[in-house]
Amino acid sequence: MERTAVLEQFDVMRVRKDFPILTRTVNGKPLVYLDNGATTQKPQQVIDAIVNYYTQMNSNVHRGVHHLSQLATDAFEVTRHKLQPFIHAAHEHEIILTKGTTESINLVANCYGKAFVHAGDEIIISAMEHHSNIVPWQIMCEERGALLKVVPINDAGELDMDAYRSMLSDRTRLVAMTYVSNALGTINPVNEIIALAHAAGAPVLLDAAQAVQHLTIDVQALDVDFLAFSGHKMYGPTGVGVLYGKEKWLNAMPPYQSGGEMIKEVTFAKTTYNELPFKFEAGTPNIEAGICLAHAIDYLMDIGLDNIARYEHELLDYATQRLLRIPGLRIIGTAKEKSSVVSFLLDGAHPYDVGVILDKLGIAVRTGHHCTQPLMDRYGIPGTVRASIALYNTREDIDALVAGVERAASMLI
Ligand SMILES: Cc1ncc(COP(=O)(O)O)c(C=O)c1O
Repeated sequence: MERTAVLEQFDVMRVRKDFPILTRTVNGKPLVYLDNGATTQKPQQVIDAIVNYYTQMNSNVHRGVHHLSQLATDAFEVTRHKLQPFIHAAHEHEIILTKGTTESINLVANCYGKAFVHAGDEIIISAMEHHSNIVPWQIMCEERGALLKVVPINDAGELDMDAYRSMLSDRTRLVAMTYVSNALGTINPVNEIIALAHAAGAPVLLDAAQAVQHLTIDVQALDVDFLAFSGHKMYGPTGVGVLYGKEKWLNAMPPYQSGGEMIKEVTFAKTTYNELPFKFEAGTPNIEAGICLAHAIDYLMDIGLDNIARYEHELLDYATQRLLRIPGLRIIGTAKEKSSVVSFLLDGAHPYDVGVILDKLGIAVRTGHHCTQPLMDRYGIPGTVRASIALYNTREDIDALVAGVERAASMLI
């Protein structure tokens, strides 16, 4: 389909009306929000749900017989109920509500590590991982005497699949990879990654923090063992995230944190644990975020992830073509399969300075290492300027970005 046709079919102006923050100004200019990889803005539907929670049902979940507690518990469980078809999980109890991707990955590193990883075993990650999919594995490997192996990438930011194949062995205990790179936008060949790991007898964790808001995910079709993502990057509230795990793994792993909720019976002599998913949900969760995530899922499902992906991809192409016309601009991350992230550098200018000038123009981008320091080292750069696109961005946003970068170039170079 022609770019114009796609952009016109998707009614972005209608979508923008759902996001009240997009009407504000920053530094006297209309806000151009292109830091969606860090966190997305929230539609009115999610904001209303938060207000509704505190005005109509604030109460603790899974504990009280009273009316408000039942309302809150039911609403909280609605989210789990909606997450199941959203990621096509076989069972609702395979969905653990956490506080975000970081906690989901830490949970697996910790609990899977205790159950399955021994001295001499190996964990495989990639060179493009976010720190939250590096450090938990590093710590676990140190504790258990295991070895962390890192799959390299080529200059375009694509995984070296031959290197990956050669790293897999009967010592591989788990493969943990990002689905979509937050710094480069690369979409990794997850089907192949998973099939190869399984052939070597290793389960796979996918960090879907940058995938779930852009792509339809089917955990059963992927046959992925664990999937982690955050609510706040998919138009939902902060403080809630998801760990999907296959029942067989979750049942075989010890609990993560301990306390209320995760127990079946406690005596001073012995404690038995609750069943899934509650075994991994100790203590009072972030109730309003848990409940309101359901509204973000509804929002995404109503528009349709395929429509979103198509629209965002056209905008990505538009941004890439326009930015590349700026003399001295270099895009970092040119993989064939990319999601809506464009990371770039202006020769002779520090990314931070570019970011400050863009901010003065009301344009929000991210500058720096994007929590991927080893990746920046791989490219020998201090960081990049990253524009990350969401479903409410427009061609006008991209035009403003391009004009802002041109202005920065004229001032800095
Ligand atoms: C690829 C990736 N993984 C993990 C995370 C961590 O997510 P959170 O801070 O929501 O736990 C991020 C956040 O930027 C990310 O982009």
